[in-house]
Amino acid sequence: MVTLISHSPAETESLGERWGRAAQGGLVIGLSGELGAGKTQLVRGLGRGLGIAARIHSPTFTLVNEYGGGRLRLFHLDLYRLETADQINGAGLEEFLQPDGVTVIEWAERIYDLRFGIYDLKKVQIEIVSELERQIVYDDFGA
Ligand SMILES: Nc1ncnc2c1ncn2[C@@H]1O[C@H](COP(=O)(O)OP(=O)(O)OP(=O)(O)O)[C@@H](O)[C@H]1O
Ligand SMILES: [Mg+2]
Repeated sequence: MVTLISHSPAETESLGERWGRAAQGGLVIGLSGELGAGKTQLVRGLGRGLGIAARIHSPTFTLVNEYGGGRLRLFHLDLYRLETADQINGAGLEEFLQPDGVTVIEWAERIYDLRFGIYDLKKVQIEIVSELERQIVYDDFGA
């Protein structure tokens, strides 16, 4: 595990960008942290690192936003609204795990009971320290 303090939204985005540049197909990044922690901010960087030009915003009316045009496809899920086990099991999340894509999941702790099989799951925890500081604890990406 690696722990770092990000001092700005841009710094959090840069971390995501670094991961995006190093990402291999089949990577699944699980993001946990309260509202406004910076999960989406990190995903923006991830998109940039993958070479995706589109502006990334959290899926609100759908479960997933899918982005092409980069080195690998990016599936961005937000499970905030999935509360019960039935909702989670009925959501068909397997569809968004792709061996040749990268999947990033906000509120991922809701599905850590599921089996990720061949996928390379990296867990990330973001905590608010102060207005501009975030503590980010993550599995080593080698990036
Ligand atoms: N060091 C930092 N890293 C990331 N975001 C920061 C940082 N400092 C301040 N912020 C601000 O915190 C907010 C993070 O918002 P973001 O949408 O990324 O949170 P989130 O974790 O995705 O929340 P939600 O659960 O609502 O989706 C932004 O307004 C951003 O500008
Ligand atoms: Mg978000």
